[in-house]
Amino acid sequence: MIVLGGSAGSHIGYELSEILGAGYQDVEVREFPDGELYVRIPADVGGADIVYVNSLAGRPNDLLVETVLTLKTLEDLGARTVYSVLAYIPYARQDSRFNPGEAVSALVVSELLKSLRVDRIYTFDLHLHRFRDPRELFGDVLVNLTAVRDLARYLRRYHELRDCVVVGPDEESEQWARTASEELGGVPYTTMEKRRISSTDVVVEPRDPDLVRERCAVVVDDIISTGSTIVETVRALRKLGVGDTYVAATHAILALGAYSKLAKLGLRDVVASDTVLSPISRVHVAPIVARHILGLEAPG
Ligand code: R5P
Repeated sequence: MIVLGGSAGSHIGYELSEILGAGYQDVEVREFPDGELYVRIPADVGGADIVYVNSLAGRPNDLLVETVLTLKTLEDLGARTVYSVLAYIPYARQDSRFNPGEAVSALVVSELLKSLRVDRIYTFDLHLHRFRDPRELFGDVLVNLTAVRDLARYLRRYHELRDCVVVGPDEESEQWARTASEELGGVPYTTMEKRRISSTDVVVEPRDPDLVRERCAVVVDDIISTGSTIVETVRALRKLGVGDTYVAATHAILALGAYSKLAKLGLRDVVASDTVLSPISRVHVAPIVARHILGLEAPG
């Protein structure tokens, strides 16, 4: 087995190769002067079992093209099996035609990835709202893993978390709030009511004010992008007298100064996984992927 790391996946790929006892190589990726990408696989992959690792956040368009070029080349070069670990899959939030004429990007991207030769795609906490099960889009090739258990374990290990409630900022985060609550020993959980005004503005209101009033809160979400969702959730909780507040999210994209917004919130802690490398990425996902590749655990 050979593990190959794409330009945003080497930190996960290298750790994964160590756990699996497999060889590791970076895929060679360069940019031509005109902005096109050059991709070269620097290993003899003919007849080999390949795990390709990348994370398509931050520069989603380039990383998507890089991934397509790599996976197609693995097929051309005769790899025997290709497992693709795409720790963050972009475009999942545009999973409906909200306004006439819009591209349903989640559908387009899933079709594109499925058209490539992959025996399995592993990803983490794929954001799907209108599609409840990601396999509706990707089929059985997709294994949607979660980092939320490990994030909750991290918080439990380093903090006392006395009298805490787990809070998801919106309806679709219920699944992650429930998972975190289980991992924290069955503490209560709830979700907030979120209305998106624009890609940078949201309004968040409590659905269950009495449950959270004057307690400690662990806010759990899949993505921190601009940070608006977390900022507005924490503000709404503080109005209810919530004191100690912790935040955990799988993918810390941290666009548009989100990190400094989080820093100003006076949180007790904020933690993310390393699906997207960031200053708050303290939970590693490579061991989770390794357990699944080795068949030691079912997803979820
Ligand atoms: C969307 O509903 C997701 O679950 C996240 O809440 C959202 O993507 C976070 O985006 P932002 O940080 O820009 O508010």
